[in-house]
Parts: sequence; structure tokens; C-alpha cells
Amino acid sequence: MIRVGIIGVGTVGQSVANILQKNKALISARAGKEISVVKGAVRDLRMERKVDIPLTDNVDEILDDESIDIVVELMGGIDRPYEIFKKALSRGKAVVTANKALLAYHRFDLQQIAGDIPIGYEASVAGGIPIINALKVGLSANEITAIKGIMNGTCNYMLTRMIDEGVGYDEVLAEAQKLGYAEADPTFDVGGFDAAHKLLILASIAYGIDAKPEDILIEGIENVNQDDIDFAREFGYSIKLLAIAKKIDGKIELRVHPVLIRKEQMIAKIDGVMNGISVIGDCVGETLYYGPGAGGDATASAVIADIVEIVRAGQSSPMLGFKKPFQSESLTLLPKEEIQSEYFLRMLVKDAPGVLASIAQVLGENGISIETFLQRPSENVTKATLLCATHRCREKDIVKAIAEIENLPDTGAKVAMIRIEE
Ligand code: NAP
Ligand code: HSE
Repeated sequence: MIRVGIIGVGTVGQSVANILQKNKALISARAGKEISVVKGAVRDLRMERKVDIPLTDNVDEILDDESIDIVVELMGGIDRPYEIFKKALSRGKAVVTANKALLAYHRFDLQQIAGDIPIGYEASVAGGIPIINALKVGLSANEITAIKGIMNGTCNYMLTRMIDEGVGYDEVLAEAQKLGYAEADPTFDVGGFDAAHKLLILASIAYGIDAKPEDILIEGIENVNQDDIDFAREFGYSIKLLAIAKKIDGKIELRVHPVLIRKEQMIAKIDGVMNGISVIGDCVGETLYYGPGAGGDATASAVIADIVEIVRAGQSSPMLGFKKPFQSESLTLLPKEEIQSEYFLRMLVKDAPGVLASIAQVLGENGISIETFLQRPSENVTKATLLCATHRCREKDIVKAIAEIENLPDTGAKVAMIRIEE
């Protein structure tokens, strides 16, 4: 029998314990051995939980128990789980986690520390979708040219409800929290950080690149408002929070931000808590992975898949999929200022002669070519809303142009910007 200890018996931990119980015979048959959760650790023993396993509030009761083979870390956070990981590994225990925040910072050193001891982290990216296994195993023959995906269920759920039903931002965030989709601190979701953590994990498997969240472009959905949604609807776009990795001329571009994306594109049709990830390989072409990106049972499905794999094979290293460093080329991160995109700008300006021309001049001086320019009347008759889409240009040029436009005498208000993904 394989004995499992779960550290963190919350939304995901409870589902893991219950599914291992409910599908015990099937899972044991697949793994070749019976799998039993012998203990769970929580912070507050007084809280009511829908599980039938012995609980403790002392994590060491799991880590010091020599009979426990696999530690499942589902508590969240970074520093404390890092210590727990190291202690479990030092005792030869395999570890399974859904903790992308931890792996965004510590995946390479944990791989080093683990050596041949298995670490499973399928649940850390896109909830129930087996994307880690797809990249690590299924696509291992390929040079990965791009990964593009909706990787945060909370944001996708929120944007879908805001766009389709006009529900307000605060109300829909509270719904996502109630449904168990959001992180303990939901600013990780809405600020784009959670999607960035997942992107960094995938980029390590695809490219062997060790980047940290601070190194890459991250913007969340906090500033997406009804004006942007109305514009998107009118011009045939949807708005999605996308995580993008691309290999361009030996450099790796990594970024997370809201995008305007044509409604007909597959990824634009992925709604609600669902995640969708497109991976392009040089041999296989484009592959697409779709499924629930958050929620207790969906995430537990991926956690248990790792447990089964460890029990079956006894060995799943190397954790990030490279047996030795890939030396035929050394990939580096493209500086965020050099990223190129098309941009949509929205400005509320004074409705006066020469205003539009002064904005066009700033864009031109910064080497930015205009694709479309529209003027809309505003409720305030002295003002007008200007909508502008640019051709492809560099991030540093658009950022500089926006600052200059905001300083023009007749603009004043903040310029809203969303990148366009074609
Ligand atoms: P959660 O509902 O907040 O559960 C966290 C659990 O950890 C709780 O049982 C909590 O105890 C326990 N805990 C926290 N600190 C502890 C400590 N110091 N010692 C012992 N126990 C401690 O979180 P969750 O949604 O299940 O998420 C767990 C992990 O899975 C996170 O890393 C998250 O990012 C990841 N994840 C979540 C989802 C999802 O949809 N929810 C999907 C993919 C990945 P108390 O209950 O006593 O407070
Ligand atoms: N908070 C995360 C999300 C959980 O909404 O996608 C899944 O990783």
C-alpha cells in the first residue's frame, strides 16, 4: 500500500482525499497498488471539513512519519511550502504539488535538490488539463515555437460574465472566490501573476529557461472596463487574459496581459472557468488543450494523476524534462521593452481643432504607424472619445508615446491601452 499525507486540506486537498476514496478501486487498479491518505494537515482544526481522514495541525506529523511515501502539498504560499518540500525530499519522500507560485521561484533548485526523487506538479498549470505531461512527454520531439493560452480560470470566468452579462467587476470576483477558483489572495489572479507563474513553468519545460516573474511583462484585468468591452463587441473582438511564450531569433518572449482577440479565433471562444492552451511545435504543428482550469475536483484530477504516475513508474525525473542542459544554443529572455505588438488606445480628449493632429504627430514621432482612428462623441459635448489601433510597434515606443499624449494640453486624462493579438 502507498501511504499519502496531504498538507493543506482546503478546496483542492478535500477533493483529493474524497476522489481517492470514491474511485479507490479504479485508481488502485491503474496504479497497481492501493493508495491511501493516512493524514491531512491544516491550520485550524476547528473548521468543519467534508473529508474522512485523520487531521493534524502539526505538519511535522506528516514529514516525520517514516511510513508516508508521498507528501501532497496543497497549502499555497512560497516560503513555508519550500521548507516543507526540502524536508520531505531530504527524507526520500516523493512530493506532489499544485503550487505554481512556489514553482515560479524555486522549480530549478527543487529539481536539483530532488535528484531522482519524483516531484509531480501537473496541477500547477491549467487545473485539470494535462499540459505538463503533454509538453514534457508528448511533444518532446519538437522545438516549441510558441505557447499561447488562457491560464487563469478566475480571470476568464470574470471576463466572460462581464462581457456576456454585464456583471460588475467586484460582484463577479466574489462569485469566483465562492466557487473556489480564486487564489487565497485574489490579486494573484486579477493582477496576472498567477497566469505568469504558470507561463514560467511551461517555458522551463519548453525552452529550459529559468526566468522569474519580475523579469517578464505582467498586466492584469483590473483596468478592463465597459468602454473597452463595448469597443471589442462593436469591432468583432473578445477580451481575454493571455499568457504568451514565443521563440523569436534565439530569444524567448514571455508576457501576460489582456488582449483584444478576434471572436472567430478558437481561443476567443474559451469561456467561463475553462482554460485553453495552444502549443506550436516544429514537427507537430499546432496542438490545442482545453479543460477546466480551476476548482477542487478538476485540480485534484491532475494531483491524483501525478500520484498514480509516481506509484506506477516510481520515477518521474527529470522534473523539468531536460536530462542535461540543452547546449546547442543558449536562449535568453527578450527584454520586455523590445516586445512587439499591435495596440488599441482609447482617449477622452477636448473636442477642439488640432487635437487629433497633435496625437497623430506624437505617434508618428515615436515611429508608430496608425491602422485606424475613430472619433466618438462623448456625453460631455466639449469632449470626444478617440479610438486608435496601431500597426505593430515596440512596447517601449508605445509606452513613451502614451506618456507624451497624456502630457498634451488638450488630452489630460489617462490613455487606456490594450494589446491586440492577431
Ligand atoms: P485553500 O482552499 O486556501 O486551502 C489551503 C489549505 O492549506 C487549508 O486547508 C489551510 O488550512 C491549509 N494551510 C495553510 N497554511 C497552512 C499551514 N501553515 N499549516 C498547515 N496547513 C495550512 O487553497 P486551495 O484553493 O485548495 O489551493 C491549494 C493550492 O493549490 C494552492 O497552491 C493553489 O495555488 C493551488 N491550486 C488551486 C486551484 C483551485 O482551483 N483552488 C487550482 C490549481 C492550483 P485551513 O483550512 O485550516 O486554513
Ligand atoms: N486561481 C487559479 C485560477 C486556480 O483561477 O486559474 C488554478 O490554478
